[in-house]
Amino acid sequence: MPPAPTAPLRFETQPEAIPLGFLQDCRAWVEVDEGAITHNTRLLRQRIGPHVKLMAVVKANGYGHGDGATAKAARAGGADAFAVASLAEAIGLRHQGLQEPILVLGHMGQVDEAQACLRWRFLPTISTLDQGQLFHAVASRSGACLPVHVNLDTGMARLGVPWQEGVALIQALRNLDGLQVEGIYSHLAAADAVDPSLTQRQQQRFDHVLASLTNGQPTRLCCHLANSAATMADSRLHYDMVRVGLALYGHAPAEHLEGILPLRPAMAVRARVAILKTVPAGTGVSYDHRYHTKRPSRLAVVAIGYADGVPRLLSGRMGVLHRGHWLPQVGTITMDQLMVDATNHPQLHGGAVVTVLGSDGTRSIRPCQWSQACGTIPWDILSGFSSRLPRLNAAHSIRQGDQLAIN
Ligand SMILES: Cc1ncc(COP(=O)(O)O)c(C=O)c1O
Repeated sequence: MPPAPTAPLRFETQPEAIPLGFLQDCRAWVEVDEGAITHNTRLLRQRIGPHVKLMAVVKANGYGHGDGATAKAARAGGADAFAVASLAEAIGLRHQGLQEPILVLGHMGQVDEAQACLRWRFLPTISTLDQGQLFHAVASRSGACLPVHVNLDTGMARLGVPWQEGVALIQALRNLDGLQVEGIYSHLAAADAVDPSLTQRQQQRFDHVLASLTNGQPTRLCCHLANSAATMADSRLHYDMVRVGLALYGHAPAEHLEGILPLRPAMAVRARVAILKTVPAGTGVSYDHRYHTKRPSRLAVVAIGYADGVPRLLSGRMGVLHRGHWLPQVGTITMDQLMVDATNHPQLHGGAVVTVLGSDGTRSIRPCQWSQACGTIPWDILSGFSSRLPRLNAAHSIRQGDQLAIN
């Protein structure tokens, strides 16, 4: 029997840009200031200088901002290369016209993944000899030599070869003519900590492997270690390239790193008021009536919920902005909607746009406020906005908040 034909891999790509007219029908959306991403990339580029490359980390749909738009905005600010977590994300970027080198940070160990790397010119991350042999076999079968980056585990205990075995792995990979070890990298576990000792220990291990490989001689290897925090904190961690994510999107990775660069947040999340209702004092609001009104109240139902990426844990601990005023959220956040107390805001009307995250006039709500309130990190908040929210270019959004032309 002939082997059954294998189904070709199919990859979905993100839609490029959504026409502004679509906004008329939107209950909620993510607004992306692409100019801010370009600005932030320029700042980071200035920080690292002309001899260090900048790899923009645009995995997880560009930390929720839209990967293609983010990558293009970062490229305009001087990004040289991109990093993603998966093959599908990498192919999505090629489909959106990005021709620069793309490093796939996640694990790949299947023949079709190796074939896709060759076909689309992706840089795979190699952590094991088995993986290297598979990529070598696929590349040499087509007479090609595939550039790869080797990940050293210097203290993250995630992907990567244990650093003590790094030299042996790299030497073994160098004997495989289907591969070219182009880069060596490692990931820092606590670069945003005030105490630098873990980062220093990881750097010593990284340096140890590099020194054993090169015998102190100059090397053509592209060595990279720094994430946003390390890029901002210490130029000794920059090596040949930095891999920056969070800072591109306008956020410092920790409080003590704020103010090092004048980063501009790139994301705002806005939603419409569905309806308003006036209720008597003592009215139970939302599931389980965890909140009761203390006075006769005017409640606004806002069309965004936890399935859109507003953490349910924020129930009763967040608010929205309208024309620069703060309206507290009340009751449990539901899957698609949340309620805010608009008693003091008689001007708020059905269809009005409120700011759930980001700036509205002179006030703003920052991802770190949310992450602190629910015991997580800003990365989790930004990447948590679901595909149900269209990503819109802020430059198209005339003006912000209630001033939007659509309102
Ligand atoms: C391997 C790797 N490098 C770089 C980054 C970018 O980190 P940051 O967003 O802190 O700049 C990440 C993010 O998770 C990562 O996993």
